[in-house]
Amino acid sequence: MLENLKPQAADKILELMQFYREDPRDNKVDLGVGVYKDATGHTPIMRAVKAAEKQLWEQETTKSYTALSGDPAFGAAMRDLVLADTVPADRVAAIATPGGTGAIRQAFELARLANPDTTVWTSNPTWPNHLSILKFMGLPNREYAYFDEASCTVDFDAMMASLADVKAGDVVLLHGCCHNPTGANLTLDQYGKVADLIAEKGALALVDIAYQGFGDGLEEDAAPTRLLASKLPEMMIAASCSKNFGVYRERAGCLMAISERAEQTANAQGSLNFLNRQNYSFPPDHGARLVTMILTDPALKADWMAELEEVRQGMLTLRQNLADELRQRTNSDRFDFIAQHRGMFSRIGATPEEVLKIREDFGIYMVGDSRMNIAGLNDRTVPLLAEAIAKTCA
Ligand code: LMR
Repeated sequence: MLENLKPQAADKILELMQFYREDPRDNKVDLGVGVYKDATGHTPIMRAVKAAEKQLWEQETTKSYTALSGDPAFGAAMRDLVLADTVPADRVAAIATPGGTGAIRQAFELARLANPDTTVWTSNPTWPNHLSILKFMGLPNREYAYFDEASCTVDFDAMMASLADVKAGDVVLLHGCCHNPTGANLTLDQYGKVADLIAEKGALALVDIAYQGFGDGLEEDAAPTRLLASKLPEMMIAASCSKNFGVYRERAGCLMAISERAEQTANAQGSLNFLNRQNYSFPPDHGARLVTMILTDPALKADWMAELEEVRQGMLTLRQNLADELRQRTNSDRFDFIAQHRGMFSRIGATPEEVLKIREDFGIYMVGDSRMNIAGLNDRTVPLLAEAIAKTCA
């Protein structure tokens, strides 16, 4: 039977990691997968994570099962981090999931359980794996306009025009901050307008928040999600700890479901637990436990916030330096948007052919849609990239 299996199309982002590894050039630069790198090109373990791991090693006495939801303390800590006190805790059900991707998958599962006829609306473009998972699950998907290719900014009027077709019971997937892949984000005021439209349509918002702390700050990046939660009767939030805690391989994520009334939370929680049981039973605990320890220990939390802020400031400086270098080399303001974008990524508007040429001629790897990982740059590589873009795309 296994001979019937067909080759699967490679994931475009993960495929790039392989191409990069195989490239023998010393001066190659990886701006593909969304992983933070320091000035030496290393992805460090955050100080607070290392300290929590040491404590855990000393204090943990069992590796027995936790709960189907994961440790409820993790759900509570993530609720505080993302939502603060925006909605009463008794309206929020939460499960630990294997990374943010696990949370997205379970969100789609929960939506289908609640409404088998749901259509999931995604921004054009969005993280390609959103689309891939939806296709794999056979869930109907429609795209809403989002990115204006010419200016590399959000086309909000077009977005609202396409969302006019949303039906009651549909799911509207929004990026909570640091839009992936474009780096172009809605203003808080625009999020408010989208929330009003979703409420008017009777749809369910799903916020994917995978980069909290990488844009304008931890609180600022949570503001759109909190605004949506304050305006909408119910919503889902898929949060990732991979990037802001740097625990990529531990697979720590959280799905929250906010019900309209507290009496509905038990059913939401029971459904989330059930979905965990069906898909993998107990979610991974190690990364989630480290995150909980950090978020509930004032000293660890302060150190984590300080390190995350250093990372964020570093990315802002890289953005500004790259925009300045491009301004000089192209003698135009064409790439100024790079300094305005927020988060790990910017889509720079190069054609697939130009992206390939930059890879072949300069050993600089970005995703085929011209998404680059700003956090993969450093002071040495910014001028190299500017040179490559100016020579290839001008
Ligand atoms: C990315 O977009 O690069 C990250 O979210 C990693 C991934 O799994 O694709």
